[in-house]
Amino acid sequence: MSSDSVKKTIGVALGVCAVASIFVSTAAVELKPIQVANKKADMVRNILDVGGFDSESPDFSKVYEEHIKPEIINLKTGEVIPEEKYTKELNPDDFDIKSLADSKTYGEAIPPNEDIAGIKRMPKYMVVYKVIKDGKLSEYILPIYGKGLWSTMYGLLALDKDLHTVKGLTFYDQGETPGLGGEVENPKWRALWVGKQAYDSTGRPILQVIKGKVSANDPRAKYTIDGLSGATLTTRGVNNLVHFWLGKNGYLPYLENLRGKKHE
Ligand SMILES: Cc1cc2nc3c(=O)[nH]c(=O)nc-3n(C[C@H](O)[C@H](O)[C@H](O)COP(=O)(O)O)c2cc1C
Repeated sequence: MSSDSVKKTIGVALGVCAVASIFVSTAAVELKPIQVANKKADMVRNILDVGGFDSESPDFSKVYEEHIKPEIINLKTGEVIPEEKYTKELNPDDFDIKSLADSKTYGEAIPPNEDIAGIKRMPKYMVVYKVIKDGKLSEYILPIYGKGLWSTMYGLLALDKDLHTVKGLTFYDQGETPGLGGEVENPKWRALWVGKQAYDSTGRPILQVIKGKVSANDPRAKYTIDGLSGATLTTRGVNNLVHFWLGKNGYLPYLENLRGKKHE
């Protein structure tokens, strides 16, 4: 092969690479807003689902607007942040747990001895969703997350307005093994959570996921949930993350404010 044709071949290859990379980067930039919109729509559907609404309805955005009132809270104090203090990062529409947890301003490290959810960092603020049914406050939807066996599992826990009774649970982002830990998404298992007590009569977190089954006449049945068989490690992760988020580093100050009690 002459050196001329080698140069030509390399030239054509480089040209093809350049054109392809322009196509790929243009597509990535063009598709980004669509991906963001899809992610938001997916979150809205998950919120509606755990709130007991038809998340598949074509009018799901309208249902959300009508029935879901998000607010941002300061986790340490439990105080609600007034809307005029919302920022580009800190607002219900663009709330991104992962980037807020990583942020120097909005996130913080969790002392290792308190990090039972295994998440290392967390946002200082959280979005919570108030559910309005028949014009009245019906429940609170609380984002939760923590380590399973293979992945960080992101979910939503719905708590009745009595601030004790679980109304629903969903995991919308997790990477556990399908058929084992991935069963955290199984509607039959999720249904076991409904009606369980999250707190005892003194307001301490009590909800537990146990290994095996709880019999109906067990006095603990009101606050225990059967673990997933063959997935003890994921189940333990769920138990720990739920405890973390129901506790003092999670939503307890906010819920205590709602209960009208002073917290430490
Ligand atoms: C390929 C593979 C994937 C697994 N995935 C999970 C999982 O996602 N969650 C989990 O808890 N255990 C998983 N396990 C099983 C754990 O290693 C462990 O055996 C199990 O959690 C014990 O649960 P058991 O006491 O209910 O049997 C997996 C095991 C294998 C071999």
